[in-house]
This record gives sequence, C-alpha cells and structure tokens, in this order.
Amino acid sequence: MSIARTAATGGDLDPDFLRWQTSLPVDQRLLDVDVAGSIAHVQGLVAANLLTAEEGATLTAGLEKVREDVKAGAVELPLEEDVHMSVEALLASEVGALSKKLHSGRSRNDQVATDLKLWSRSATARVAAGIDAVHEACHDFIGRYGEAAMPAYTHRQVAIPVLGRLWIDAALLSPLSRDTSLLSTVTAELAESPLGAGAIGGSTLPLRRDVTAEALGFDGPPKNPIDAIGQRDHALTLAFTCARIGLHLNRFCVDVVELASDGLVTLGGAVACGSSMMPHKRNPDLFELVRAQSALRQGELTALMQTFQGLGSGYHRDFQQDKQVLFSSVDGTVDCLKMIALGLRNIDLVPDKCLDALRQGDAVATDLTEALVMGGVSFRDAYGAVGALVAGQRAKGLRLCDLTAEDLSAADLPASLLELLDPAASATRRAAPFVGS
Ligand code: ARG
Repeated sequence: MSIARTAATGGDLDPDFLRWQTSLPVDQRLLDVDVAGSIAHVQGLVAANLLTAEEGATLTAGLEKVREDVKAGAVELPLEEDVHMSVEALLASEVGALSKKLHSGRSRNDQVATDLKLWSRSATARVAAGIDAVHEACHDFIGRYGEAAMPAYTHRQVAIPVLGRLWIDAALLSPLSRDTSLLSTVTAELAESPLGAGAIGGSTLPLRRDVTAEALGFDGPPKNPIDAIGQRDHALTLAFTCARIGLHLNRFCVDVVELASDGLVTLGGAVACGSSMMPHKRNPDLFELVRAQSALRQGELTALMQTFQGLGSGYHRDFQQDKQVLFSSVDGTVDCLKMIALGLRNIDLVPDKCLDALRQGDAVATDLTEALVMGGVSFRDAYGAVGALVAGQRAKGLRLCDLTAEDLSAADLPASLLELLDPAASATRRAAPFVGS
C-alpha cells in the first residue's frame, strides 16, 4: 500500500485515477528543493531531539543519494501522488524503516508550500538575470544608435524627431527596471518559511521551526500556520510580474515590427525567418513570437487567480495546478527575455531612412511653431501659421524641409526658421532635458 494510505483511507487508489491525479510529471522538477526542504526538516528534528544525530545523518545521506540517483538516471521516481511521496518512497528503499520518521510534524501541505517558495526564489533570480541581459543589449544598441535621430510616432504617424536612446529607454530600459523592482516584492513575499505549519494547524511536536527556516535561508518561521500553507501570493505576484514583462516586450516588438516594415530598422539574418514561397522575404518572426507570448503570460496569471478564487482558507488540492502554470509563466518569460536580448543585438536602425521619414513626415513642424512662440507670437497663431506652411508645401508636392527664404517671406515669417529644418538637430535639442543626456 502507498505510504499515505491507512485503514481509514480505504484501499488503494484506482490506477487510472492515480495516474491522472499525480503531479509527478510536473513537480518532479521540485526534486532539488524538495530534498533541500527534507534535509532542513531533518536538521530541525535533530535539534528538537526527535531524531538522534546519527539518525539525522543517515536520513540526510539517504536523501542526498536519492537526489543524485534520480538526477543521474540510476533510479526513477516511483509513481506516487507527487514528488514528495515519491522521494519518501525511494528513501525507504535507501535507509529502510528509519525513513518512516522523516515525516514527523510535517505535511505535504507545508512541504509543497516550502518547495514552491524555494523554486520561486531561484525563478525570481532567473527573471532578474534575463532582464539584466536585455539591459546590456539595450546599452549595446544605445552605443550604436543612441544618438541617431528617428521618428517618434503618434497614431502611427511621424510626430517628432527623437534620439534612438530615448526610444530604447522608453520601450525597454525603464519598463524593465520597474519590473525588476516588482521582483523585490516577490522576494519580500518569499521571506517566511512555511515549514512547521503542518497540514494547517501546526504540530504538537516541539518542532524547531527557527532551525529549518534558517537552514533554508528564510527570514523566519511561519507566523500563522493556516496562512503559511493556504496562500500563494508570491506566485501571483511573480506571475503578474511575468505578465507585465510580457506586455512590455509585446509593445517593444510592435515597435520593431512596424519600424522594420517602414524600413527604418533592418533585421539581421540570424533572427529573421524567410518565407517558404517568396524568396525575397525577411520576416520579423522573433518579434512576432515574443509579441504573441504576452497573451500566454496574461492567460497564466488569469489561470492562477481563477484557481485560487472560491477556495476557503487553508490548502486545497486545487493548489496542485499552480505549479504547471507558474513554471510555464517563468520559463516563457526567461526565454522571451533571452530572445529579445538576442534580437536587439541583431537589429540595426537605418539613420538615413529615419531622416527621410522625418523629412517626409514634416516632423519639425512643432519646432517651427515653438520658434515663433520664442519670438513672441502666441502659440495658436504660430500653430496656425506653420499649419498653413505645411499645407502650402504639400500642395506643391513638397515638405517643410524644402522651404526657401522666399516661401517664408511670402508667409511673413522669419528666415531664421530655415535653421530649424534639420530633424537630427531637432532630436538632439529635444533630448537634452531627458534621461541619458
Ligand atoms: N501534490 C500536491 C500539490 O502539488 C501536494 C500536497 C498534497 N496535499 C494534500 N493534502 N493532498 O499541491
């Protein structure tokens, strides 16, 4: 009979039900943290005199052996309800009857809560490292194109000349820095150890929760056993952070796809897929795929929230579903960050095309307006006068950049406006008060 069954439980599980309900295919990934949690629990039991030092050493060595054997492929985790029971079953074959003492004062409820927190700790570090890598790629891009002028769009129309560094900062550096700050909220929510909370109401054994908490690098023991095993707020905050990173990457990808389709950005062959039929295509698949992944991140956040909604306090088996969703959210985020860092290093701004787009888009119109304001004209009058200039030039098939001294004097406007027609100079002037100047 399986280790977590008694006369009161009633017989063995139906094999089909066992196979369907086991979390082993998903939570075997928790093997390392599960064994670390068990070893800490053993330390706590020794400190509480519930195990002798020798028993503790035997159990610890047995747990380490189980971990190494499974990782080396020397043994398989047996089919049990989950990784926790599977490890305990393997430990029995390793150390015999002594393994029956391991679960003293512990439940899978505080065990899985602990495992997930430990996993989330390294997951948080992986996401943070992914953001750092994108930040580095941003600085590399800024080194190449930070001072190049490019159009900023409003309503998908050329609006104002900006510098490349302002775009990259707005699209990636600043949003992802805020996401890194959000990760410290996750870290704060991981501070408390759930171990020693038991199934829901602690234990009557004199557990040394302080010892286990310290051994696992937590700030301290559980304050409330019902809360310790019955909440997954860190998972929600982590999934939200991943969803927000996904959204930020999505919006950057939209920029790249549109800039590439306007010819203002070129894609390196290393990150561009071709068409199976049209030989001339160089498609922005990397950016389209990352753009689409944002939908998955939002779905995962929603799935997690919906899983917990409607559950009363304490542990419910529904919680089992959280791992698959959180793993996918974090893995997907780490992969997308990696792809964006790669993509960013493989795109180039095309400064000449950018300047051309700025000229064709009359992007210096606001500069001319503001120059008139500086000369004492009211904003609305200046705005009207420049609007008339734009309309006049376009009627002739020309642009503001084609203005001549005669055009300006005919419009009763100062010839000094001719000095403001260079979009690159405009971008530099405009960037001065802002970040990175
Ligand atoms: N496999 C379960 C999970 O992932 C472990 C806890 C099971 N606890 C229980 N009381 N059934 O959440």
